Amino acid sequence: MKRSIILCMYAMMAAICSAQHNIAKTSDAQLIQNVSSRHTVSLDGDWRCIVDPYNHGFYHRFQLDLKFDGNMLSDYDFDTSPTLRVPGDWNTQRPELMNYEGRVWYRTKFDYKPAEGKRLFLHFSAANYIAQVWLNGKELGRHEGGFTPFEYEITGQTKAEGNSLVVCVDDTRLPGGIPTLNTDWWNYGGLTRSVCLVETDKLFIKDYSIQLSRTDSRKIEGYVQLSDKAAKEAVTLQIPELKVKTQLTTDENGRATFTLKAKPKLWTPESPKLYNVNITHNGETVTDNIGFRTIATAGNKILLNGKEIFLCGVNIHEESVGDAHRCITAEEDSVLLALAKDMGCNFVRLAHYPHNEDMIRMADKMGLMVWSEIPLYWGIDWNSKETYALAEQQLGEMISRDHNRASIIIWSIANETAVNNERTAFLTKLANKTRQLDDTRLVSAALQNVNKRLAPTVYTVEDPLKDALDIFSYNEYIGWYDAPKEFCDSITWQLNTDKPVVISEFGGGAKHFTAQDNVKNAVTECVRNNPKAFFNEDNQAELYRHQFTMLRKIPGLAGTIPWVLTDFRSPHRLLEGVQDGFNRKGLYTDKGEKKKAWQIVKDWNDEHRNIGRTNSTK
Ligand code: GCU
Repeated sequence: MKRSIILCMYAMMAAICSAQHNIAKTSDAQLIQNVSSRHTVSLDGDWRCIVDPYNHGFYHRFQLDLKFDGNMLSDYDFDTSPTLRVPGDWNTQRPELMNYEGRVWYRTKFDYKPAEGKRLFLHFSAANYIAQVWLNGKELGRHEGGFTPFEYEITGQTKAEGNSLVVCVDDTRLPGGIPTLNTDWWNYGGLTRSVCLVETDKLFIKDYSIQLSRTDSRKIEGYVQLSDKAAKEAVTLQIPELKVKTQLTTDENGRATFTLKAKPKLWTPESPKLYNVNITHNGETVTDNIGFRTIATAGNKILLNGKEIFLCGVNIHEESVGDAHRCITAEEDSVLLALAKDMGCNFVRLAHYPHNEDMIRMADKMGLMVWSEIPLYWGIDWNSKETYALAEQQLGEMISRDHNRASIIIWSIANETAVNNERTAFLTKLANKTRQLDDTRLVSAALQNVNKRLAPTVYTVEDPLKDALDIFSYNEYIGWYDAPKEFCDSITWQLNTDKPVVISEFGGGAKHFTAQDNVKNAVTECVRNNPKAFFNEDNQAELYRHQFTMLRKIPGLAGTIPWVLTDFRSPHRLLEGVQDGFNRKGLYTDKGEKKKAWQIVKDWNDEHRNIGRTNSTK
């Protein structure tokens, strides 16, 4: 073929790729609430895949799922391609994909006999980072954001047999993305969470909110929202254990609001009571497990159900213990949460992105309060309108999915973002948007201290964003990144705030050596044998001892969240024989083994977990 034709082809390919990349269609923003309680058909399993580093897929129209016909244009054939498991990141499924960043084309086939009078939706629990979706060759849309659900209505677009669902997932980091180019966690790409079909009635229960009244603990209030505007529709709300059975009627918008008398046992970490709730419309029932509690602040106290509570927390990445991959199952989630409970925690910060829904539901059950966060992390493009819209989109999807979860007490809008006018304006607007979407929870962000000192041993944090937040949270690494650990003993913090103070990250690293570990080099020799060396376990334990000496002096301290529960994969952490691609600040190893510092944190939690909880019989 003449060189000119080939060059023309590739010019066309480049044009098509960029065009495809800019399609801004996103899924329906108002998500179906509590998908697991609906009539679903799972599409999880082994999907055919084509790894596409040179973006051939758009030019060769992989989305059409053409059969290989011997023609040179069909340089692919899904039916004979390898497979990847869905859900699951691609990085840990094949060694050659561990460091792959780019596009992978997924294809599955399914049969679906359209049921008379029913509607059908295609629901993705998450895909990292951009997903473009085609059904039987027709584009459904494009979603950006690696940790929140999205869905498309496909009523009438399926055939009884052989529907072809093609998804192009691209985990390339983008300057205007959320997160952006630089993160201290592994960029696990792919259809990382489940995919399913959701079959509903023509008019169905799309969303609802059922919460304890913030002003009267003997009342439960909320709404039921149908999928379409439909007045005078009958909806029944039942909470059998509270002997509640209420008939509701929708308004012209298909929405029924309610306030009912009830005296539920309140959800607390010590007693995480959940009630079975049934909502019925036209013969279709949605069932959920709801905890009833209130969260608020009063001066520098955090109040759970009107009583002071101290947040004995820990930071958690959504990475499985043992074989370090993006968590896939509720079992993997419960292992992480159980490690936090064992360490005396009543609170977890799910860093730095919305974790999968099972993790939150497990926290509801296990009695762990949750800080849930969108990945507005480090160097975000604060001047981009598209980036701000993306932040609101991801925030909305996080809140839309989880607003009925009692465990979530804090929505967080950012982590360690350098102070400048554009950033503060961007995040202040986002904090206000958060309250507009859900004014029943606290809003925070992990600010960063930039070692601002009022005197040689008097530290402060100066960040105008604090005025927009309910809790003054900041990260500090004194004794690790800043100053010797012994210096902590002489430091006081002057924060000029009357809000509750939470230290949202602090700590340091340690390599846990086992008898089987051989000494790889002089560094590992030093780390293993010198208790004062960085990355030595004794050093990490001492660091926490000095940190707690400092933290206990902070006025208004309402919570501590050590960084981090378990060692986790990071492209930043390259020290041979010590880090080997893992951030080693865990209080457990990535295999779930305790480090010496674990006991220091456990003792601190045991000392603080019952603050304000005396006679917490309510
Ligand atoms: C930062 C950041 C974390 C990171 C940690 C570290 O504060 O928020 O994501 O892993 O410090 O340096 O280990």
